[in-house]
Amino acid sequence: MTKKFNTIAVCGLSWGDEGKGKITDYLAQKSDIVVRYNGGNNAGHTIEANGIKYKFKLIPSGAPLEKEVIIGNGCVIDPKVLLEEIENLNKLNKKVNLKLSSTAHVIFPFHIALDGLEEKTKGEYSAGTTKRGIGPTYSDKAGRWGIRIFDLIHPEVLKPKLEKLFQIKKNLIKTYDPNWDIDLESIFEEYKTYGERLKAYVTDTAYYLNKAIDSGKKVVFEGAQGNLLCIDHGMYPFGTSSNPNALGISAGTGVPPKKIGKIVGIIKAYTSRVGEGKFPTELFNNISEKIREQGHEYGTVTGRPRRVGWLDLFNIKYGIMINGIDRIIITLLDVLHGITPIKMCTGYELNGQILESWPIQHEIIEKCKPIYKEFEGWEKRSSEEWSEIANQGYDSLPNTMKIYLQAIKEELKTDIAIISIGPNRNDTIVLDEDLF
Ligand code: GDP
Ligand code: IMO
Ligand code: MG
Repeated sequence: MTKKFNTIAVCGLSWGDEGKGKITDYLAQKSDIVVRYNGGNNAGHTIEANGIKYKFKLIPSGAPLEKEVIIGNGCVIDPKVLLEEIENLNKLNKKVNLKLSSTAHVIFPFHIALDGLEEKTKGEYSAGTTKRGIGPTYSDKAGRWGIRIFDLIHPEVLKPKLEKLFQIKKNLIKTYDPNWDIDLESIFEEYKTYGERLKAYVTDTAYYLNKAIDSGKKVVFEGAQGNLLCIDHGMYPFGTSSNPNALGISAGTGVPPKKIGKIVGIIKAYTSRVGEGKFPTELFNNISEKIREQGHEYGTVTGRPRRVGWLDLFNIKYGIMINGIDRIIITLLDVLHGITPIKMCTGYELNGQILESWPIQHEIIEKCKPIYKEFEGWEKRSSEEWSEIANQGYDSLPNTMKIYLQAIKEELKTDIAIISIGPNRNDTIVLDEDLF
C-alpha cells in the first residue's frame, strides 16, 4: 500500500544558483521543517523578505520564518561558519530551531589548505572550487578517516582521531608546500570549543526526521548546488563532491526514497555557472554583460562574476530524468527584460548529427554545437512594476513571456508549478496550487 507523505524536494537542475533559497523559503511558509542534505558552505542561498536580505551557506532556508531546520548527515560542516550564521540570526532576534546530524563530517583548516593546493596542482582539470575544503573533507569521508560531529562534541574521541588525521594531512600538505605549518594543539583547542557550542543542536536526525514525516509533518528538502555539479551524474571533474540532486536526499538524511513525496526542479530563465568547465550556451558579448548586471550575477559565496548564457533545455531534460522531476520552477524571468531576441537551446549537434541524449563527458560536450530557438523578449520594467505584476498574477505577465514559458513547458514535457519575477518572497506566482 502506498502512503502519502507531505514532503517536497527542491533541486537545482543546472550549475547552482537557480534560486533554491528563495523558493525553499517560499515553500517553507506552508512547511514545518526544512532540511539540507548535501554540500557545505560552498552554497550561498539568498532570501529577501520583509526588507531583510539573508545569505545562508549552511543553515537551511526555513530559518527566516523560524521553522525547524535540519542539517543532515550528507553535509560537510565548517563549525565556525555555522556558529556565525546562528549568531547572525540571533542578532536579528530570530529563534534558531536547528538540529545538526551527529554523523555529518567536519571541515578542518587542513582541508581548506588542501583545497587550494590541489586546485593549483590540477591545472586545466581544476574545477575553480570555492576553496572551502569541501572536496578534501568528502575525500576523507570516503577514505574512512573523516571526523564527524559526534567526535567534535566528545573531545576524548576527537583527540586521537585528530592526531592521526593531522599527521597524515600535514605530510600530504608538505609535499605541495614544504613551509606549511599549523599547530595541532591550537586546532584541537579551537575545535573543542566549537563542539561545546554546537552540542545542544546535535541530534540523530535520521530518526528525528523519519518520525516527523511519519506523523504527517510537512518537510522541504533543500538541495545545494545543481544537477550538473553532481559527483556522479554531473560534468566530472568540473563539479562538486556530493549528490546535489534528488538522488542525494536519502543518503544525506536517512529518509528513504519512498518518503519523498514530490520533487521539483528549479531552473533560471537563462543559465549561469561559476567556476571552470564547459558551458555550451555561454555568451561573451554585450548580452552576457547585460544579463550579469541586470541579474547581479556575482557569486554569493566568493563574489566571482558568474558566467552566463542562454537557457539549455537539453541538459535540463537530462536533469529531469536523473531527478525524477514532477514540476518545474522558473526563476529570474524579470532579469531578461529589455533583451530581444531571447534564445533557448533545445538540443546539440555533433559532427552533423543531432544528439538524442545529453553527452555528459566534457570532452564530447566541447565539440557540440547548441541548436537554438528564438523568442521575442519583453519590455524593461522597474522592480516595483515586477512586484505589482506578481501581485496581480499570471494573466498580467507580458504575452511574450507567456509564449516563452509555454515553449519551455512543451519542450520539457513537464508542468510549471511556480514562476519567480523578482528576488522578494512576494515576487512569486504559483501556477499549481496543489503543489504543497
Ligand atoms: P541559490 O544558490 O540557488 O539559492 O541561488 P542564489 O541565492 O545563489 O542566487 C540567486 C540570486 O537571484 C539571489 O541573489 C536571489 O536573491 C536572486 N533571485 C531569486 N529569484 C529571483 C527572481 O525571480 N528575480 C530576480 N531578479 N532575482 C532573483
Ligand atoms: P549553490 O547551493 C554555484 C561550484 C564551484 C566549482 C565546483 C566545485 O549556491 O547553488 P566546491 O567548492 O564545491 O568543491 O566547488 O562547484 N559550486 C557552485 N556553483 N552554486 C553553488 O552552490 C556551488 N557550490 C559549488 O564554483 O566550480
Ligand atoms: Mg547560490
